[in-house]
Amino acid sequence: HRHLLGIEGLSAAEIEGLLAAAEDAVALSRQVEKKRTTLRGRTQVNLFFENSTRTQSSFEIAGKRLGADVMNMSVGNSSMKKGETVLDTAATLNAMRPDIIVVRHHAAGAVALLAQKVDCSVVNAGDGAHEHPTQALLDALTILRAKGRIAGLVVAICGDVLHSRVARSNIILLNALGAQVRVVAPSTLLPTGIERLGVEVFRTMREGLAGADVVMMLRLQLERMNGSFVPSVKEYFKHFGLDGAKLAYARPDAVVMHPGPMNRGVEIASEVADGPQSLIRDQVEMGVAVRMAVLETLARHLPNA
Ligand code: CP
Repeated sequence: HRHLLGIEGLSAAEIEGLLAAAEDAVALSRQVEKKRTTLRGRTQVNLFFENSTRTQSSFEIAGKRLGADVMNMSVGNSSMKKGETVLDTAATLNAMRPDIIVVRHHAAGAVALLAQKVDCSVVNAGDGAHEHPTQALLDALTILRAKGRIAGLVVAICGDVLHSRVARSNIILLNALGAQVRVVAPSTLLPTGIERLGVEVFRTMREGLAGADVVMMLRLQLERMNGSFVPSVKEYFKHFGLDGAKLAYARPDAVVMHPGPMNRGVEIASEVADGPQSLIRDQVEMGVAVRMAVLETLARHLPNA
């Protein structure tokens, strides 16, 4: 593949190949000397139309560890403020001959559209409620390192599934690798037809977490709920917020994950987020490794590679 636009379309073998490459990158990143030369001479542009802490910084670190020249495009200060469109912005950057563009955009499908208009490789860093493929890969690597396998594990994805590209990418990936995937949410936060993605649907944490090996919490994306159903944060936490009492429904050795940014006291309590079962910091470390693996894999398909 020239681009990474989603988990959909990747085979289990391709996913496993990326996870194996990421495992190597974890070892490299724990050394004093962290650099490789795979992307030496290459130019990587990070083009983020939506806010990001983890994804943008880890793509920057990943590119630099591989020797690329990395440019972070500051959309807020760009000529998009003067009316230039996304596609004209892409064409303008494309004329500067980058090798890889990493894109985050609030509209589902915008990254795929942009990929059709440029000559370089494009990586989807999150498009609307569609996909966030590197997040699913880093989550899989985190689970694999904690549990030694993915096949057969019961993974409960809880909360605002409706607005979550993280949930979609994770459901596709975890199913491809043989996990048993559940979603746990009030009906108002579930997309219609979610069962078609191969998940079991639960509407209470008590039922959905029973026997779970992995409890994956999602942020309540209030910014995407313009005018539609907005739950009371207090009620939401009472029924769907993960605290110690609800985590006790899961297996005693269950691990807790959250893609970030977290809203403490909304979808997750600090006692759990900072507790012994939490892998939230590990997820961030794995984020750099997975993005190195993705960039290296795409680099093999670049012209003159
Ligand atoms: N998980 C995630 O995508 O975080 P950011 O929005 O901070 O990049």
